[in-house]
Amino acid sequence: MKIAVVSEQANGERRVAATPETARKFITLGAEVAVEAGAGAGAAIADSDYAAAGAALGDRAATLAGAEIVLAVQPPAPDSLAGAAPGAWVVAIMAPFGDGRARVGAYAAAGYEALAMDLMPRITRAQSMDVLSSQSNLAGYKAVIDAAAEYGRAFPMMMTAAGTVSAARVFVMGVGVAGLQAIATARRLGAQVSATDVRSATKEQILSLGAKPVFVEAVAGIEGEGSGGYAGEMSPEYQRAQAELVSAHIAKQDIVITTALIPGRAAPRLVTDAQLATMRPGSVLVDLAVEQGGNVEGAVAGEIVERHGVRIIGHRNVAARLAADTAALYSRNLYNFLSTFWNKEQGRPVLDAEIGDAVRLTRGGAVVNARLVS
Ligand code: NAI
Repeated sequence: MKIAVVSEQANGERRVAATPETARKFITLGAEVAVEAGAGAGAAIADSDYAAAGAALGDRAATLAGAEIVLAVQPPAPDSLAGAAPGAWVVAIMAPFGDGRARVGAYAAAGYEALAMDLMPRITRAQSMDVLSSQSNLAGYKAVIDAAAEYGRAFPMMMTAAGTVSAARVFVMGVGVAGLQAIATARRLGAQVSATDVRSATKEQILSLGAKPVFVEAVAGIEGEGSGGYAGEMSPEYQRAQAELVSAHIAKQDIVITTALIPGRAAPRLVTDAQLATMRPGSVLVDLAVEQGGNVEGAVAGEIVERHGVRIIGHRNVAARLAADTAALYSRNLYNFLSTFWNKEQGRPVLDAEIGDAVRLTRGGAVVNARLVS
């Protein structure tokens, strides 16, 4: 069983799908590991560290030759995998909906079995394989650090001989994995933090982190955790009530971090240009949903734009901005996934139905995932 770790081709992608630690663990399981030279550079991992762990270093062709499993972060172009074994598994964050759907067809046509780590079910036994959580967690942290870097004031209250510096007011919109870490990070920096979500279950979590929940009370939101823990599209009535609530609150905020996503749909619009105009000049917004359509009107993917004296940060792929840590966690997610299903007799992983059917996109030349073929 040969596992190939390819270097990432996408612009700005600094992560890598295996570390020397996980390479060594795969070798201990009985696999052979090949790493494309330079693959770890963006995550500050030297080729020599992979070699010391027992991996073979080589160019892309040598790395892929005969590989039965290909590990990547972003989905590799199907035609960039020449030399991999027929039916090889390609394991990555596949983003298989929307623009990514055509690539899924190409994996099928090329005979690969594409496995989408981003479709891992959110069940207890798969928590250690959950790449959305591991990556969003650090993205939530980095969003606050990015905001602090753009903000021309301090976060904590400081009482000095020359006078008092007041604490920054930070508002987090969307309290999933990224939002919770953003709240915790802003609190650690000394900000006064408030947060909102459509799921009522997040109220307790916000309070437990020492932040203030700001919730629509007039119209029912999503009770409990909602379907599989995810939000859905809200009614027009709810959206109106939420817009009023945000308008009243946002004018008094210095920093706004938005993280709201709805699986399989465009991100909900939470902050309008008119609301931005009510904020104090020098305020900063970070839109972590910018690549899914954006929560903030006027946010531009890959740019920092200024409107009404307010800066809107729209970095792409925020997880890659902390590549050494996010690559390490992503690599462990992959190892946990493949090792959990490792079959000693066959010397390869054999997936069960619950997780296999959820993550498998293609097999035997066809697209097989229920979420793509229904
Ligand atoms: P996400 O990235 O899909 O969305 C981020 C947040 O935005 C969510 O909290 C969502 O409710 C919120 N949101 C959506 N529309 C909104 C709107 N119009 N206004 C305000 N907020 C809005 O969510 P993420 O981070 O992937 O977490 C989703 C759920 O999955 C959570 O309940 C989390 O606790 C759960 N989870 C469960 C795991 C497990 O059991 N293995 C692992 C990780 C997360």
